[in-house]
Amino acid sequence: MKTITKEQQLEAVSGWWNSDQIVKWDKQYDEWDSQTVRSLNRRLEKVLKFVDDINLPKGAKALELGYGAGQTALKIGQRGYEVHGVDVSEKFVEIATTRCQKEDPTGKYYFKIGNIESRLEYEDETFDLVVISGVLHYLYDYEACIKEVYRVLKPGGHLIIAQRTAYALNHFLSIRPFLCSCLYFFLREKYEIFHSYKAMLCDSKLGVIFGRFENTKFFNTKFMLKGHDVWKYKLKKNLFTIPKLKNLCKRSGFGSLKVDGAYYCISEEPKYFDFNIKVDDFLEKMANKKFLHFIRRLSRITIVLSKKKVVS
Ligand SMILES: C[S@@+](CC[C@H](N)C(=O)[O-])C[C@H]1O[C@@H](n2cnc3c(N)ncnc32)[C@H](O)[C@@H]1O
Repeated sequence: MKTITKEQQLEAVSGWWNSDQIVKWDKQYDEWDSQTVRSLNRRLEKVLKFVDDINLPKGAKALELGYGAGQTALKIGQRGYEVHGVDVSEKFVEIATTRCQKEDPTGKYYFKIGNIESRLEYEDETFDLVVISGVLHYLYDYEACIKEVYRVLKPGGHLIIAQRTAYALNHFLSIRPFLCSCLYFFLREKYEIFHSYKAMLCDSKLGVIFGRFENTKFFNTKFMLKGHDVWKYKLKKNLFTIPKLKNLCKRSGFGSLKVDGAYYCISEEPKYFDFNIKVDDFLEKMANKKFLHFIRRLSRITIVLSKKKVVS
């Protein structure tokens, strides 16, 4: 298993989020392929459900870390909150600002460029709400980020994290993703692994044994490479599980956790998309029933709501 330094990870992440990729992401909630659109919108829906549950007064201050093209920030701002944002991408700052100014001209949006693993440039106890959606897997030191979130939140302020997790339903229904999940479980992997036999053997902890074969002919056959990807930007994506997310919040001092799931699917393949919609709707309904909350563990994305304690 290759390791990566903090600087290399940041360079790769900013390279990726300043590349042509961002044009795609700008349209991600409406014009991208349907599977992705469905999961992103489900995620957004669940984040906003928690925002509405908290029911902050108008004018409350929210911060989104890793705001991307601003779709989530816009929906938060449209609820009458002042929205601040920090993102490492130099291109997203313009895209997000333009989107929010156009769609919500009277809203208050303040986006800036920055690395959310470093000290956040805000005073202690500034915000009522912090949202981190689809971002934590990019961070080298997500622990430092959550500690900063704790600092900038007011006592009683809320943190919402939306994050894809390791053990989703679709991973149990085909062989390669299932084997990958087994590796995640038994070897306690730290990073996500491509669903190819090559990656499972070379990029997991098994790499200590099999890494030396990575360039051999057999390890580069179609069979070994199915499910593999080659990224120009060599970043590592952190692997999260629900307990890991909960513990992360608790370790940083957060209390009272609520957990929800978003998007249940049986396969990532486009041909199953229509069937996925039915599965998603059905499991979503079931997961809300009293004794069936455990179903949420099978969703692709987990949403965690936590609260900074009020010290009396
Ligand atoms: C998958 S996008 C999510 C965008 C947005 N939160 C949403 O829900 O649509 C991930 C975002 O995290 C940002 N990001 C990743 N690492 C970061 C870092 N270290 N500091 C600041 N932003 C970061 C990226 O630039 C990108 O905009």
